[in-house]
Amino acid sequence: MSHRTLIVGNWKMHGSHPANAELLAAIVAGRPYLADVAVCVPFPYLSETAVALSATDIRWGAQDCSAHEQGAYTGEVSAAMLHEFGCRFVIVGHSERRAYHAESDQLVADKARMALKHNLTPIVCVGETLAEREADQTDAVVKRQMSAVIHTLGHCISQIVVAYEPVWAIGTGRTATPEQAQGVHALLRLQLHAATSKSNDMHILYGGSVKPDNAAALFSQPDIDGGLIGGASLKAADFVAICRAGR
Ligand code: 13P
Repeated sequence: MSHRTLIVGNWKMHGSHPANAELLAAIVAGRPYLADVAVCVPFPYLSETAVALSATDIRWGAQDCSAHEQGAYTGEVSAAMLHEFGCRFVIVGHSERRAYHAESDQLVADKARMALKHNLTPIVCVGETLAEREADQTDAVVKRQMSAVIHTLGHCISQIVVAYEPVWAIGTGRTATPEQAQGVHALLRLQLHAATSKSNDMHILYGGSVKPDNAAALFSQPDIDGGLIGGASLKAADFVAICRAGR
């Protein structure tokens, strides 16, 4: 990997005005980082996040967007709106959305397409459940999830960020070993390589119980280009330590 590591905090449905202010101030105070750093926050907090980070090199984004341009879609938020709030990134296809909101591979791909159309970088999440891993279906599942996005985006696929997040490692404290994660990342890189000549320039992030004590070993793998951090991104000291583990 020749490019900089990318470390993204996914706050999920956490935060409050005072907690956000403290956390964002600590992330800013922890600079400079060798890695590129971003936080993906709940929609209502985009405005204050933009204010806190706009004079810095830390970027921000959202955790989902609509696959529709605009219209009668109560409760949804469009990619164009996110762009107005200065978002650089938007997570799409997180396993929590696939599982609790029945998001299909194609819907995730459509969201990624809409994000790119509005100059956002989609962070497309893929990953297998524990049952799928135990049934030896890991490769087939992540390939299927990825191929819907490749098919929908065509040559624009090189503009996305991919996040491999094994569902069994999310919020469980059970991290994939660096070797396990590297195996899937290499598979994804190969699949992307067949679709774009720029696959080596793309970021493939690992997510799932990344902590300060395992971050460096994960990021040192050849095909792991950074991390998507859940729980540890809410603790200022932990998130800063993980960002410092990036290169
Ligand atoms: P944890 O870091 O809490 O396991 O969450 C990972 C994740 O889902 C990031 O999107």
